[in-house]
Amino acid sequence: MAGVTEQQPVDLKPTLGPFHLIALGIGGIIGAGIFVITGHAAAIYAGPGVIISFAIAGFGCAFTGLCYAEFASMIPVAGSAYTYTYATMGRFMAWFIGWNLVLEYLAASSTVAVGWSGYFNDFMTYIGVHIPAAFAQAPIALEGVQQHLVVTGAYFNLPAVALICLVTAVLIVGVNMSANFNNAMVLIKTTIVIIVIAVGLPHVVSALHIPAQHDSVVPLIPANTTGVFGQFGWSGVLRATGLIFFAYIGFDAVSVASQEAKNPRRDVPLGILGSLAICTVLYILMAYVLTGIADYRNLNVPHPVSMALEQSASLKWLAPFVSVGAIVGLASVVLVFLLGQSRIFYAMAKDGLFFKVFGEVHPRFKTPWKGQLITGAFAILLAGLLPIDILNPLVSIGTLLAFVVVCIGTMILRVKRPKAIRPFRTPYLWIVAPIGIFMCALMMVFLPKETWERLIVWTAIGVVIYFAYGIRQVAGAQRWHIKDAE
Ligand code: ALA
Repeated sequence: MAGVTEQQPVDLKPTLGPFHLIALGIGGIIGAGIFVITGHAAAIYAGPGVIISFAIAGFGCAFTGLCYAEFASMIPVAGSAYTYTYATMGRFMAWFIGWNLVLEYLAASSTVAVGWSGYFNDFMTYIGVHIPAAFAQAPIALEGVQQHLVVTGAYFNLPAVALICLVTAVLIVGVNMSANFNNAMVLIKTTIVIIVIAVGLPHVVSALHIPAQHDSVVPLIPANTTGVFGQFGWSGVLRATGLIFFAYIGFDAVSVASQEAKNPRRDVPLGILGSLAICTVLYILMAYVLTGIADYRNLNVPHPVSMALEQSASLKWLAPFVSVGAIVGLASVVLVFLLGQSRIFYAMAKDGLFFKVFGEVHPRFKTPWKGQLITGAFAILLAGLLPIDILNPLVSIGTLLAFVVVCIGTMILRVKRPKAIRPFRTPYLWIVAPIGIFMCALMMVFLPKETWERLIVWTAIGVVIYFAYGIRQVAGAQRWHIKDAE
């Protein structure tokens, strides 16, 4: 049994086996990262070298994932990394991480909604319905390799906004995230990815024998000819790593379910490493196919996978299926992330660190409906007004920072509470956690300067709110208790 008691009774039955946990991980992972951001990262930063970026990011996530799992098995209550930080580093750091998790959950849900919109628009065009350009994208965009801000002439991204409204309504009424629902989503997304690989791979491999078609696959890493840091060459591959790291976010779903695992000691690492390994292989192959069938320079579009397929006479038929798969799959990711954000705000409100309204539960629906509504409103603003290339690096940097703190926190708790019951104990923690920290820091360092500036502004706003509000509040009743072994 987990070494934890909660204030509110919980009745989590240990029902999940290794396959459920792997499915849970894949369900959280596959989304806009592979369907959209791969195209941007290849076109602007890494070319086909994005394949290497996927390998590096997957490797880095595995180490952090193991640290997450130890925490999640000890403190399996709402709030994820926020709660772990509260338990190890106190209120200020907890606030700091909770505030950064807004970038992971809220901004990620907006990012995925914008990605969803790209495929939705493409599918609508396919069936002959044209969404007016003024309502099909954000009013601003980043253009060219220098990523200059330009005005698009559009008002707002209507499909992305509509999706968030719909998902928020579903979440307020209370979604029963049954294992079957999750499994169906995972199946659809994964099947589409596997079909694209299975059909595309032989095509790319055979094209390699035709000299005229070599260009987009070779060289693997296009040379950095401009001398600008991050534009192709190895600096480009590493910058792309920080961006496509987004594609792996969501594996923490496995660690959060560790209390429901039948055999957490064996199955949680299997779930985390298994889902990461499967996704890493799928991502690498998908990126190979994508940059093999289309010129990577053309992939900076809202729907790169279906666009690439549309360019190939023999693979064209697959494009509408990919759009449908992306529409279903990405919507499920938005749902999971908006749900996660409202629960983190709920946990913070219960701890007295965030406005109480986020902790109010609807008498009938039993969901934190006001918090969910406010969360939805902010997600709408971000998704309606910002392009994916501004949102994506922001999500990556905020999440990477939270991951670094989780790795540090695991080590702190080992020193502070060596005897605490750890249903899952990270093997070789003193090697795993430092490598996790190093890999996350590496991905952060290569993100664009503007993203760092935004992170600093975001953190400064957070610090102001903490000192103006959070510090004055009385701490709520502690929601967790870590037990020591007898
Ligand atoms: N990993 C998730 C995605 O790619 C967030 O959409």
